[in-house]
Amino acid sequence: HVIGVDLGTSAVKLLLVDSNGEVAKEVSKSYPLIQEKSGYSEQKPEEWVEKTTEGLKELIQQYDGNVEDIEGISFSGQMHGLVLLDENNQVLRNSILWNDTRTTEQCQQIYDTVGKEKLLSITKNPALEGFTLPKILWVKQNEPEIFAKASVFMLPKDYLRYRLTGEIHSEYSDAAGTLLLNVAEKTWSTEICNLFDIKPELCPPLVESHGFVGTITADVAKQTGLSEATKVFAGGADNACGAIGSGILSEGRTLCSVGTSGVVLSYEEKNDLDFEGKVHYFNHGEENAFYTMGVTLAAGYSLSWFKDTFAKEEAFESFLQGVDQVPIGANGLLYTPYLAGERTPYADSIIRGSFIGMDAAHKRQDFVRAVLEGITFSLNETIEIFRENGKTIDTVVSIGGGAKNETWLQMQADIFNANIVKLASEQGPGMGAAMLAAYGCGWFPSLQECAEKFVETTKTYQPVPENVERYQKLFGVYKQVYQQTKSLNE
Ligand code: XUL
Repeated sequence: HVIGVDLGTSAVKLLLVDSNGEVAKEVSKSYPLIQEKSGYSEQKPEEWVEKTTEGLKELIQQYDGNVEDIEGISFSGQMHGLVLLDENNQVLRNSILWNDTRTTEQCQQIYDTVGKEKLLSITKNPALEGFTLPKILWVKQNEPEIFAKASVFMLPKDYLRYRLTGEIHSEYSDAAGTLLLNVAEKTWSTEICNLFDIKPELCPPLVESHGFVGTITADVAKQTGLSEATKVFAGGADNACGAIGSGILSEGRTLCSVGTSGVVLSYEEKNDLDFEGKVHYFNHGEENAFYTMGVTLAAGYSLSWFKDTFAKEEAFESFLQGVDQVPIGANGLLYTPYLAGERTPYADSIIRGSFIGMDAAHKRQDFVRAVLEGITFSLNETIEIFRENGKTIDTVVSIGGGAKNETWLQMQADIFNANIVKLASEQGPGMGAAMLAAYGCGWFPSLQECAEKFVETTKTYQPVPENVERYQKLFGVYKQVYQQTKSLNE
């Protein structure tokens, strides 16, 4: 067996996976977001450690085999979050997360200091509020006494792994989201560090995602029941792990994943394509591979926000019931999911969402359908950028919230104008983490071969030409809403 741990934004999910890729046990533990001000989003790293330890303990309690047979463990994690440690490796402040947008000023400073062209040539990515460097600069400027004590920075799952092993590392797929990595060369950029007076030691040593980093500490073994011999492998960013766990391991493969945020990502062999920073360009969890990706900040979050605000007591299943009865276009209601700004294609932290076209005759289900359509339109903006840059997007694997509902799957096929493939058993990034452990343990000669055994597809949803045409018109209107409402928020 191996364990895949997915340290998400709302919960940590732990999967115990056997050598056939079957999930033997599964545990999930949730934790809150700390949102002290509009645009702020933080978590306590200690909470990740506590919940993961509890989860591991439960997983082991439910396991009736020999713990020595759990050979390896690896991680997937929410990207970009900043954890700062002092010289005794104590956490200096709450982690500032990927969906925190306080750093607009710091992003501007990055452009002013490095220059957009140079930034893109080194990091392959634009300066966005969610990324780690702007957060480091924010702390440096707003909490200098804390920054002065910082001896190393870590990303969320790297910190969690440190607490389980006592070893400090990062790996390329998550480091790619910091704006401090030279993505093509796979080294921390001393040039960028120097420009911002960041000492190079602040950046942790880098390894491959399947790289062995140590074993479980005696303390953690005692608390969880895991064996001290359990091998620990570095793991990857949640989007890289989502790609691995869905078999996005060769050119031409594309993934749509709806979690709190939603992403559309596509495998890239090359490290020298130029998307002008319109989409993210990150290292994959597979060695020497890459992926391009666009992000909708409030994807699943739009739905959970709507449900929590207007139908808190209701179960999710019944909340979505009836959306298939509402016609395409939600009877004239259109939603833009900019609850916390938007990443792709606008990189705009100030824009806010909207419902356009409300009618006294609208029922709640019209709103729910409009929310689903708005999220999917936003994801389609990324598909559009891919196509404009010459990529062929004819088939998309869909995972996460978007794959849990038949109507939504068909909606993706019709809005993306592509075949949508559903996986037989869908475990998302946690499975990718388990696969990194399986590969790291030497069970397979490559991740690709691991995927051949572990990842099975089931149904395909095909676009219906008539629906495609209707959605294309609506998509045109959807894009105008951004332009028309932009000035309202300024
Ligand atoms: C990617 C991003 C999000 C987080 C969610 O750039 O910010 O998808 O990784 O966990």
